[in-house]
Amino acid sequence: MPDKKKTIGILTGGGDCPGLNAVIRGVAKAGIGDYGMEFIGIEDGYEGLIQNRVRPLQWNDVSGILTLGGTILGTSNKADPFRWRVKDNEDPVDVSDDVVQYAEHLGLDALVCIGGDGTMAIATKLSEKGVRIVGVPKTIDNDIWGTDVTFGFDTAVSIATEAIDRIHTTAMSHHRVMIIEVMGRYAGWLALHSGLAGGGDVILIPEIPYEIGKVCDVVARRSKKGRRFSIIVAAEGAKPKGGEMSVQRIIKDSPDPIRLGGIGHRIAQEIEADTRLACRVTVLGHLQRGGTPTAHDRILATRFGVRAAGLCREGSDGVMVAVDGRDIVTVPLEEVGGKTRTVQPDHPSIDTARKLGTCLGI
Ligand code: F6P
Repeated sequence: MPDKKKTIGILTGGGDCPGLNAVIRGVAKAGIGDYGMEFIGIEDGYEGLIQNRVRPLQWNDVSGILTLGGTILGTSNKADPFRWRVKDNEDPVDVSDDVVQYAEHLGLDALVCIGGDGTMAIATKLSEKGVRIVGVPKTIDNDIWGTDVTFGFDTAVSIATEAIDRIHTTAMSHHRVMIIEVMGRYAGWLALHSGLAGGGDVILIPEIPYEIGKVCDVVARRSKKGRRFSIIVAAEGAKPKGGEMSVQRIIKDSPDPIRLGGIGHRIAQEIEADTRLACRVTVLGHLQRGGTPTAHDRILATRFGVRAAGLCREGSDGVMVAVDGRDIVTVPLEEVGGKTRTVQPDHPSIDTARKLGTCLGI
């Protein structure tokens, strides 16, 4: 008797990120082509499981999507089956039992959840309720616990670096202090690496609360020496010593409700007041999350996807694929949720920046 065909669900949760489609393609092509599996695409992350919105995913659906940004399945960074708001003004309720039943009704042998820490935390709880889960980590912030790197990060660094390069020329021509605010809520990887790649004079990250006096000294000193411009790269989560992050809005239903923004303008005002040098601010925002992934991210996403398909075939459960050095490994899902992989003070990139004379805010 031939083995029963396995049926695998795929969803993408949380903020989008370049490379999501490359993962979907990798899982489905390896699964259909090598293992004879069938795939069901869940629409808009966990929302599709809650609202029963799914569609079959066949070879043709995943063909030609390798280079596409975003996600063909759609996503949601609000939908949580354990805290689902049926109506906007009603209290959240736990609909996870319905979701588990629906997964059984679909005949899912495994569910591949592609997402960030919020998606992994929900996946862990669903796995505890009996849904077989294989997680795939994504985020441009590169802050997921358990993996050296996530796809999307390299693309975001490239986009931010190109922006810094372009801003450099205006900074030099107009003798200005240019502040580039990049994403990164609790982890400064994106600011640190785009700042290094773009030759930032000052790099501010959430892990190292800055002293504005030190930042002003650096730009004033450069100006006195005839370097009449400065480039400051600030993570949106950067904060002054003893102060708070710049919160722009609160999204009530989101697993992480805080949306940041404003640190660039805050620093600009303070530098102008202190040094009288002209400042301009560019907030890169969602530009960093869009568009086609770099070759590095396409390869990483594809490796993740193909490995996830293999894990589904083996019947693995409650694991997330991850990078350890050059290898793709697995880590237990329960170890991932609720933690953040931040920049450690002894990270080689911090040392590199310091040796170059780059100011890290203190
Ligand atoms: O976690 C990814 C991320 O892009 C953060 O860097 C950023 O703070 C947040 O998502 C923005 O979320 P939203 O798309 O909901 O505004």
